[in-house]
Amino acid sequence: MDNSNKKLTVAVIGGGGREYAIAKRISESERTGKLYVIPGNGGMDFAECVAITATDVEGVCAFCVKNDVDFVVVTPDDPLALGMVNALESRGIDCFGCTKESAIIEASKAFAKDFMKKYSIPTADYRIFDNAANALSYLEQTSYPTVIKADGLALGKGVIIASDKAQAVAAVHSIMEEKAFGNSGNTIVIEEFLEGAEISLLTLTDGKAVVCLPASMDHKKVFDGDEGLNTGGMGAVAPNPYFTPDVQKECLEKIVFPTVEGMKKEGRTFVGCLYFGLMLTAKGVKVIEYNCRFGDPETQAVLPLVKGDLLEFFLCVREGKLADCNIEFENKFCCCVCMTSGGYPQAYKKGYEIDIPDDVAPFVCIAGAKKAEGKLLTAGGRVLNVLAVADTLDKAVETAYQRTREIHFENAYYRKDIGQRALNKLKRS
Ligand code: AMP
Ligand code: GLY
Repeated sequence: MDNSNKKLTVAVIGGGGREYAIAKRISESERTGKLYVIPGNGGMDFAECVAITATDVEGVCAFCVKNDVDFVVVTPDDPLALGMVNALESRGIDCFGCTKESAIIEASKAFAKDFMKKYSIPTADYRIFDNAANALSYLEQTSYPTVIKADGLALGKGVIIASDKAQAVAAVHSIMEEKAFGNSGNTIVIEEFLEGAEISLLTLTDGKAVVCLPASMDHKKVFDGDEGLNTGGMGAVAPNPYFTPDVQKECLEKIVFPTVEGMKKEGRTFVGCLYFGLMLTAKGVKVIEYNCRFGDPETQAVLPLVKGDLLEFFLCVREGKLADCNIEFENKFCCCVCMTSGGYPQAYKKGYEIDIPDDVAPFVCIAGAKKAEGKLLTAGGRVLNVLAVADTLDKAVETAYQRTREIHFENAYYRKDIGQRALNKLKRS
């Protein structure tokens, strides 16, 4: 791609709220000409949605070649792990996103654990098993609660926290023998249960420089008070008040830089967005997981705090010029509340009409929705993300909920306590 200021034809891969937030920002860039989202969703009026699934690497490549796409932002984990960036780049199309070789940091938890051990990056103690009998015999001697993780990608569901041996045995049977997560469970990690506040840290890196975006706090459980099943995320706030300057320093020294350096030494230089799922334990900050991509819904809460032209930043990452890129942040807070279809993350009904008042619409990222006969209908578990930015977290939370209450669809469900843990922390400090 030449570096002149010509308008670029850009494609964003994915179709959820995270892709809505990223693509919307890209649509506002001076550099953006034509914008495609593949497959996108029914709410993305600012782009042309193309009905190719995000995991169809050959289909996406053929479309991008045919339509002279200059730059592709590959957002979700599966296409990254499948090598979509490798495939597009080999056809001469520049991308934001990591290669298949780097995506292994998320796509194999066994790789990630051994990598952290090799580079002395703090994480929970662990054992890896590729045989159910050995795993079951280890469960006789370990302490509880314990954490059992399918090695591969499992739509965020491959982690089971077992409070006793019976639950752990059931988890091993379900993952390794009944193949609840398919081949992702051929290998499992059994690890120490950690306690503490969680921090999601999204970073941009070109393999040399690293820019930390404002840290955020996800809310993974479906019910208030962190009860019930794990979900993809029920809401997020940023910045995360647990990410103090001291914690940030510790994270950069012990986790972020060693990870970026280590990946380089492994011949897997990471270029793109590297997400650190961290836990602030009594023994310091530890890595819970790496993701090779932006988080959802963290991205929706973080991007409103990032000033400037997101496409320019992505181009800097691709060109290895992140060190020259001046990225500044708003000194504000953002709250993101996810409105879901009642029943999610288990069975739920869809096809209900969504009513969003005009004055609220600019603050909504549409995730699981489709258009039919001019109407916006629910079409997924996480339907909408409602945002508010304010000078205080209190105000951001209050405004996000005011907006949420003005949006209606049948069977809508959302947590009522997004941001409370962060607010309590701020009140204590
Ligand atoms: P992951 O898919 O690896 O992000 O895990 C999902 C969630 O499970 C995390 O956000 C944590 O809340 C929890 N979790 C994962 N690993 C551990 C651990 N070792 N100790 C306690 N909780 C964990
Ligand atoms: N919200 C957690 C994730 O995107 O993995």
